Amino acid sequence: MPRILSGVQPTGQLHLGNYCGAIRQFLDLQAEGHQVFVFVASYHALTSLHDAVALRASIRQVVVDYLAFGLDPARTAIYLQQDVPEVTELAWLLGCVCPFPWMEKMTTYKDKTAKGLEANIGLFTYPILQAADILAVQSDIVPVGRDQVQHIEITRDLAQRFNREFNAEVFRLPGLRLAPHAELLPGIDGEKMSKSYGNTIDPFAPEKELKTRIMSIKTDSKGVDVAKDPDNCTVYRIFRALAGPGDPRTVELASRYRDPSRQPGGKGFGYGHAKLALLELVLDHFAAARKRRAELLADPGQVESVLKAGAQSARSLAQATVAAARQATGL
Ligand code: ADP
Ligand code: TRP
Repeated sequence: MPRILSGVQPTGQLHLGNYCGAIRQFLDLQAEGHQVFVFVASYHALTSLHDAVALRASIRQVVVDYLAFGLDPARTAIYLQQDVPEVTELAWLLGCVCPFPWMEKMTTYKDKTAKGLEANIGLFTYPILQAADILAVQSDIVPVGRDQVQHIEITRDLAQRFNREFNAEVFRLPGLRLAPHAELLPGIDGEKMSKSYGNTIDPFAPEKELKTRIMSIKTDSKGVDVAKDPDNCTVYRIFRALAGPGDPRTVELASRYRDPSRQPGGKGFGYGHAKLALLELVLDHFAAARKRRAELLADPGQVESVLKAGAQSARSLAQATVAAARQATGL
């Protein structure tokens, strides 16, 4: 079974877009029986977040949310990047074979500094640390979003260059897997759902807040008797992404958009009805997750022990990799 690793930045409240684009993929891979490693990229976050209280809280929240969503510590190692310090040593070893221009061409660095992030050395060499995360546990496949493809390519290049430079087969070359549900989830304003746009839906919000949020999704003003095109409606698109296009509930919803007279009661079908259907779906889909999250928040010790066990599994692999890499270099 291939080994899978992915990292998530602790950058605040997770939303439905993160769930559909990233988290669900980890859950699928876990269910397929792969050996999965998911870690919180805390050192990476430090390249742009210099607020100890905020960082600590974000790290914790990501772990709680991932566990609540269904990552199962019995099958998936969950750990914090700083609990596997071998990764930073490996980053140094890889940095010593990394030509400067390889980092200069990274689009993420250019994008982030263009957005106003400080151009510090950590941010510049970010992809080397990411390569170390991946190579330390000798991951075969890295599930990522499109924006991360260049980082996986550079990881392969660094692994190959190290192996060649020191004439040793220290690293396996990882492959990548793009999220199968490639469509970006829209937010309540119809644009890409993103925390930076303030248009997100939080599946863990209290029911009342969730309802207000869903009822505020922007739609056109077609009345209840008018046929509507589901594919152009944000409410329907979110519903379809969450339930799946083939789900009978999605099929039924689409047919009510197209023929509002099919709504039981014969009073027509409007966007308000669609929004209530979406609310019901979200509450149903995340019922177990919401319950688990409340339990985890009440029992901090549980999170600590999960992280400890996760770090142990990752560390034993990372220690072996770093030992082999040191040996290859002559250290
Ligand atoms: P945000 O845009 O809210 O800052 P991030 O960039 O932190 O989100 O994304 C974290 C993960 O969630 C990435 O893997 C990304 O591909 C996925 N993701 C974020 N927003 C969406 C979206 N609207 N639709 C699908 N996937 C998304
Ligand atoms: N750079 C990734 C992001 O911004 C997070 C990350 C760090 C990562 N190390 C990784 C992802 C290793 C996959 C593998 O989303």
